[in-house]
Amino acid sequence: MENEMTSKINPARLWNDIIESGKIGATEKGGLCRLALSDEDRQVREWFVESCRAEGCEVRFDELGNLFSRRPGRQPDLHPIAIGSHLDSQPTGGKFDGILGVLAGLEVVRTLNEHGIETEHPVEIIDWTNEEGARFAPAMQGSGVFAGVLEKETILSCRDRDGRVFGEELQKIGFRGDDVCGHHHPLDSYFELHIEQGPILEAEEKVIGVVGGVQGMRWYDLTLEGRASHAGTTPMEMRSDASVAAAEIIIAVNRLAGEIGEGALTTTGVIDAYPNSRNVVPSRVFMTVDLRHTGIEILDRMEKKLEEAVSTVCSLREVSGTLDRLWDSPPVKFDAECVGAVREAAKKSGHPLREITSGAGHDAVYVSRVAPAAMIFIPCKDGISHNEIESATPDTWALAHRY
Ligand code: GLV
Ligand code: MN
Ligand code: MN
Repeated sequence: MENEMTSKINPARLWNDIIESGKIGATEKGGLCRLALSDEDRQVREWFVESCRAEGCEVRFDELGNLFSRRPGRQPDLHPIAIGSHLDSQPTGGKFDGILGVLAGLEVVRTLNEHGIETEHPVEIIDWTNEEGARFAPAMQGSGVFAGVLEKETILSCRDRDGRVFGEELQKIGFRGDDVCGHHHPLDSYFELHIEQGPILEAEEKVIGVVGGVQGMRWYDLTLEGRASHAGTTPMEMRSDASVAAAEIIIAVNRLAGEIGEGALTTTGVIDAYPNSRNVVPSRVFMTVDLRHTGIEILDRMEKKLEEAVSTVCSLREVSGTLDRLWDSPPVKFDAECVGAVREAAKKSGHPLREITSGAGHDAVYVSRVAPAAMIFIPCKDGISHNEIESATPDTWALAHRY
């Protein structure tokens, strides 16, 4: 950008946008339930599009529903500098995760407009479709297809747990666009502001996290098949109980992290038992496993241990198990120049900063494959995220976002 920018964003205005967004899909505990491609997702998109148009931006959306809101630059041939994240949430999510990054883009555009600042490059605000992966798996689908890593057709035809199809749901909310996702949309660079979602910055009293990269993550579907039988008449030794096998696998997955050590993380987030009736020995359990680490070799070891645990428990409990790896997102290192720009800006602000690796997945992971990318973290209260009580304050993001 040519201008020396000294203008600061208006934190109160950004806070107000967070509160406005937080009304769409609000939960009782002050969080959000705004699953991807739900009616709440439609409502927040419509509100966001209207807000961007009010700032004079041109808004487009592609065949995956990714939303691009462009403020023109002096040189229309230059690729846009993009700022973005996601507006969808977990079923019991917070109002900052992802939302802050998109609305920060809007706040940057508002600040530029307010001060009559022209930029050489266009500035683009992006809302990526289904970052969370809570309703349709895997996560980061819009940015994954944009970057050419995930297959468009696979994503458009994937189903949620009620059997609803992604492409049809996208059509239903009115955001299935004609623009081809990805190839024809080069970005000069991409910046994503996000709450840390963990405890490090707060504990060390740092205000800005300069994010060097993101750890690797692998997602698995596991289906256990036993035999349904009567709870009151089937002797214990004659049961083939899928729930008991699931319980033992959950414990094994949890222990696996401790056995590996070195910061390994394991989670069993979904457990669906069938037929889900209190007096039937469960015939089937569907469950998911999430493994995370910064090293590929460690992830390989974790995967091997997971396979062993499933096979040991299944033979002991006389159930069959099918383990599918449905997603593998390797560790990512962000672009040195973009990370350097974040570091320099943070230093200039004079506020305490820390180099940090992200434990959570973000759209920047995939965008970094096709454009130089970096992220900025700010602390969140008690390091809690993916929870309705997630909280962050305007003070911190105003410091992190000083222009
Ligand atoms: C995305 O929210 C993740 O699972 O890290
Ligand atoms: Mn997020
Ligand atoms: Mn999230």
